[in-house]
Amino acid sequence: MTAACNVVVLISGSGSNLQALIDSLGNDNPARICAVVSNRAEAFGLQRAHAAGIATDVVQHKDFANREAFDAALMEIIDTYQPQLVVLAGFMRILTPGFVRHYQGRLLNIHPSLLPKYKGLDTHRRALEAGDHEHGCSVHFVTEELDGGPVAIQAAFTVEPDENVDSLTGRVHAAEHIIYPLAVRWFAEGRLRLAEQGAMLDETLLPPTGYLLRI
Ligand code: GAR
Repeated sequence: MTAACNVVVLISGSGSNLQALIDSLGNDNPARICAVVSNRAEAFGLQRAHAAGIATDVVQHKDFANREAFDAALMEIIDTYQPQLVVLAGFMRILTPGFVRHYQGRLLNIHPSLLPKYKGLDTHRRALEAGDHEHGCSVHFVTEELDGGPVAIQAAFTVEPDENVDSLTGRVHAAEHIIYPLAVRWFAEGRLRLAEQGAMLDETLLPPTGYLLRI
């Protein structure tokens, strides 16, 4: 049997991806969420964690003088759980290089676009304005380049003619709830890892856009 993989999940808001992860655990999945940490006390995801009996912590960025001090406090809390994996699930803070280096190879993020397209914010509107025929989401290893680390998996779908930002938001969320639990499980099983050349699945180097799931 594979050893348990302790996961700390960082959130800022609703936590629907956290919920998808919670729902994917159990049975033969070696991932185990040992804590949820939020930078906002009012994040709804904290209630989801409580309902699932998961420990929570709040580290409010507004209580710190700068990013370095906030990230240092965040690292201290995270490390008390000795996680093998740290998962950013709608965590809306830019992390310092020191934080990213500390968790190198064990830090995943989900981003609402088909990376490398539309790094940063407002991804659905930008995809619509560009007239893209395809949109989706990506799970990637976090590196010092914002939304630029090696992609593990993407879910892609066709943009319908009458699509708007709201419909894309819903479709991307549904896709995220499929690929994030999958990526976390692969990592926990030791199938997904970050190598010097990029993201590897079952010891095979993935393409720059990761494993592609068409939905
Ligand atoms: C998700 O769509 C995620 O891709 C996005 O925030 C949302 C969080 O939803 N993350 C980013 O934009 C990071 N740059 P959730 O709180 O319901 O999981």
